[in-house]
Amino acid sequence: MSDLKPVLCVGCTVIDFVTINSSFPIEDTDRRCNDGFWRRGGNASNVSTVLQVLGLNVEFFGMLSNSDGFRVLLDDLDRRQIDTRHCPRTEQDPPFSSVILAQDSGTRTIVHCNKNFPQITYEDFQKIDLTQYSWIHFEARNPTETMRMMQAIVEHNNRNQNERIVISLDFEIRYEENLQLCQYCDYVVFSKELASQQNWRTPRQTCDELNRTLAVLTGKTIPNLIIPWSSAGAVCQDADRNYNELKPYKQAKVVDTLGAGDSFMAGFIYATYVNGLSLPQAVDFANRVASHKIAKFGYDHVA
Ligand code: FRU
Repeated sequence: MSDLKPVLCVGCTVIDFVTINSSFPIEDTDRRCNDGFWRRGGNASNVSTVLQVLGLNVEFFGMLSNSDGFRVLLDDLDRRQIDTRHCPRTEQDPPFSSVILAQDSGTRTIVHCNKNFPQITYEDFQKIDLTQYSWIHFEARNPTETMRMMQAIVEHNNRNQNERIVISLDFEIRYEENLQLCQYCDYVVFSKELASQQNWRTPRQTCDELNRTLAVLTGKTIPNLIIPWSSAGAVCQDADRNYNELKPYKQAKVVDTLGAGDSFMAGFIYATYVNGLSLPQAVDFANRVASHKIAKFGYDHVA
């Protein structure tokens, strides 16, 4: 394990019920899949897993539960030595996703169900001693509470210029609600799916539009913006508007794309935090990690 301070990953953990299908099923048919499994999922939860597999100390901070159904998630977090000491607990059953992997196209289709599972609050976050971390990673969700957590980190950074905490954000859902979170971040990874929902057709357009709308809303732009563009690779743009396109690493056989984006995120954090790589170099490394991930099931082979 590394002797760096742990990375704190803030978000949620869910059960992924995965079926492996030769092709995507036709609606309203009854069919058998080729195989299937369940595993711990959720964006910040998967980022924690991959960072841990890569050799970092990791802490996950999200809502856990004492319900029987949640036990499998707790056991897996324990088995992987992902620290959960600050997580509050509820009694509710876990959120879950039904995931269809289609072998012919290599797609993963996710239907998520969170049944109003409670989310962590700023009050929970306040109990954490921020001096224990140099990097805190967030999922874009629960914007009111998440914004207060980020503001607390910014205040901490203003008081402790030499012990600055880097903030990264994985921005995959609910554009309008979560946009303002970007103003506090050092690094924002913005999803292609979200760009498509805004009718932004290219990564360049996405960089421009995202920064333009954020500037109108908050007067700020994103210091380091990263946009994975699926099989086209990824782009990044820094505060000086240096724009780079990084080619993808293609896999001869695509086996499991579930969590590829989370693996990209973890690869990026690792390359920046541990190896101190430049923005384009770190994005290139992240592309490599994501490509490596999809060649096999799960995350254990990623290191
Ligand atoms: C993959 C993933 C899954 C989870 C879903 C939640 O990126 O984290 O593990 O079911 O996204 O949106």
